[in-house]
Amino acid sequence: MSDLFVELKTPNGKTYKQPRGLFINNEFVKSKSGETISSTNPSDESEITTVYAAGPEDVHVAVAAARKAFKDPSWRDLDSTARGAILFKFAELIEQHRETLAAIETWDNGKPFSVSLNDDLGEVIGTIKYYAGYADKIHGQVIETSPAKLAYTIREPLGVCAQIIPWNFPLAMAAWKLGPALATGNTVVMKAAEQTPLSILYLATLVKDAGFPPGVINILNGEGRKAGAALAQHLDVDKIAFTGSTATGKEIMKMAAVNMKNITLETGGKSPLVVFDDADLDQAVKWAHVGIMYNQGQVCTATSRILVQEGVYDKFIEGFKKHVSETSVVGDPFKDDTFQGPQVTKTQFERVLSYIDAGKKEGATLVAGGEAYKNVGGKGFFVSPTIFTNVKDDMKIYREEVFGPFVVISSFKTEEEAIQRANDTTYGLGAAVFTQDITKGHRLARLIEAGMVWINSSNDSDIRVPFGGVKQSGIGRELGEAGLEAYTNKKAVHVNLGNRL
Ligand code: NAI
Ligand code: MG
Repeated sequence: MSDLFVELKTPNGKTYKQPRGLFINNEFVKSKSGETISSTNPSDESEITTVYAAGPEDVHVAVAAARKAFKDPSWRDLDSTARGAILFKFAELIEQHRETLAAIETWDNGKPFSVSLNDDLGEVIGTIKYYAGYADKIHGQVIETSPAKLAYTIREPLGVCAQIIPWNFPLAMAAWKLGPALATGNTVVMKAAEQTPLSILYLATLVKDAGFPPGVINILNGEGRKAGAALAQHLDVDKIAFTGSTATGKEIMKMAAVNMKNITLETGGKSPLVVFDDADLDQAVKWAHVGIMYNQGQVCTATSRILVQEGVYDKFIEGFKKHVSETSVVGDPFKDDTFQGPQVTKTQFERVLSYIDAGKKEGATLVAGGEAYKNVGGKGFFVSPTIFTNVKDDMKIYREEVFGPFVVISSFKTEEEAIQRANDTTYGLGAAVFTQDITKGHRLARLIEAGMVWINSSNDSDIRVPFGGVKQSGIGRELGEAGLEAYTNKKAVHVNLGNRL
């Protein structure tokens, strides 16, 4: 086997061929510099393997491949139903390789295997199919003007799209971005997060067999500041779609200005979950747990700030603590009963611990967790599910995104206060409201500044429904029909039907 592939065995006993190269023009190649990045198993801190890391010179080659493919009749002039068929075939291949993809995802990222297999891979397949179905249902419009003029619009692809994805849902974030970009006829250069480089390369092995012409999908690993920045600044890239931190999103926006790229940004959050006195408390407790503890708390829409009305504050905390202690089983992500695996990297692990320190120093009350969880063989980046109460609005732990199994709880008196405090943040991604009063529920849905509001649930997002933020949580929408708008232009065509001048 060449150095571009390595045979690996996953912790659940699957042997497979892991690609290590950059995927350009339907082939794996080495990086020009020969530089590599290392992939770590966060459960035991061991190195899984290394993969080639793209530098600016490799980015250049990938962008040129994507540009060539964009103009090539094999993709540009492809019948729209045939384009959809390639995407359907891609989804079918992913389904066939589902177990392997899920095992790699869990090995490299640390999320429970059952979650990778059912939730993440289910979402990947669902998203690709959803957009496959749209490929031949993207219509322009005829616009009535006068009998002497025919005016119509064409929805055309943007061109070469750079897509930079994070490590918390590697394959799912890839699917969210690939689906709409490809259904609308764009070509793609995707950069995966350096913390989770493996699953995306395995996904790349399915691209050619699905029938995508060379250069339509290019997939690179590489560091953000090198490969990512090279993409954001590249003069021949038409669009950049990014999911990650707000700080990096701002950097990308600046870099994208160089040639006025179209941008979609999906960034951070400190989403509130508001529980009113009249809520169904059992429901509130269950969703509040999922809303912050799912995926090790590494979810951009995590409802990480819980506001509870005074009348049920003590009861909610009691129920929530009990539910977290019973449900959030921390452990080996390949074990069936594990709800929470390790944080993705040492950096993220230390970041969560530093917020635990900050919470203690700021004088909040630690009612659960609050330390590294060392019962999994003494190694790995595990954190026990952490709950702080009596949290004040000016505390760092109340204001900043932690991105871990870490939640802050505070009480409020009135509806007005709840709205004001829910909105007292620079972010605006998600929000959840628990009340049995439908009028109040819908009223808050309008008044809370967020891209998404859940009434009596949290984080049950759906690939058919738009996803994205307001304020410093991002620009633009992914998923649903709205996701197509992020990848098309409306071209206007004016036809003179008479002798008008
Ligand atoms: P990050 O935003 O720096 O990384 C996300 C992606 O951007 C990665 O692919 C990375 O390589 C790339 N990137 C980094 N710097 C870049 C640059 N200068 N130019 C172009 N691309 C660049 O996030 P990071 O450092 O991994 O995590 C830090 C925090 O970000 C987390 O603790 C969390 O709060 C937040 N985050 C939010 C995510 C979300 O889903 N919205 C996902 C991941 C992180
Ligand atoms: Mg890893």
